[in-house]
Amino acid sequence: MTPAEATKLFAGDCDFLRATALPEQFPPSKLPEVAFWGRSNVGKSSFINALTGRKSLARASKTPGRTQEIIFFDLGHRLMLVDLPGYGHAKAPRAEQDRWNDLIRRYLAARPPLRLVCLLIDGRHGALANDLAMMQVLDRAGISYQAILTKIDQVHATEWQLQADAVAEVIKEHPAARHDVFATSSEKKLGIEEMRVFLAGFAENISPKLKIR
Ligand code: GTP
Ligand code: MG
Repeated sequence: MTPAEATKLFAGDCDFLRATALPEQFPPSKLPEVAFWGRSNVGKSSFINALTGRKSLARASKTPGRTQEIIFFDLGHRLMLVDLPGYGHAKAPRAEQDRWNDLIRRYLAARPPLRLVCLLIDGRHGALANDLAMMQVLDRAGISYQAILTKIDQVHATEWQLQADAVAEVIKEHPAARHDVFATSSEKKLGIEEMRVFLAGFAENISPKLKIR
């Protein structure tokens, strides 16, 4: 897919499909799927908004733990974008965290079309202990994942570059991780176009017949 086609895909229709905390309510998995995961407040919902050029498609918030359900968005009937609840939210009651973790584990185990997890990592802090633990969860589940630094507008370029190098070192040890690191800012729209091109590569192709029509 060309960069122009990727831009067009993300500028086109993107519809909220379902928000649910119940695995039996996950929508039928007919499209290739990409999920967004990371620490609470790392910027997952903002990232989905930046990719799709919307202000409030996914609900972003200053309050960590905003996204409490698994939220499915249908991008042009070609790719499912999935906003996952974050981990490591210090203020959430233990029982609630366990419930989200269980929900996510069941999601990861039950979605054959899941092509990729975008693992968002705060560009100011790099990969922390719970990020490493979640990498292991993905390794064990055999789900390919892409490390992406967020909020790079918040630190000097030399600082996030150091963090990116450190994350690149860490993921070398993780079998299911892709071996490069993206650096982004949803706020300043940095690295977002590159992400669109990369993610569009996972979308369902339109058949030549359909393209002509
Ligand atoms: P949970 O749903 O609680 O897990 O959070 P989340 O990962 O979806 O984070 P969300 O997108 O809600 O963003 C959390 C906060 O970070 C909000 O105040 C956003 O405005 C802010 N934020 C997100 N991306 C960026 C960014 O690129 N730069 C800056 N400066 N702030 C950002
Ligand atoms: Mg969120």
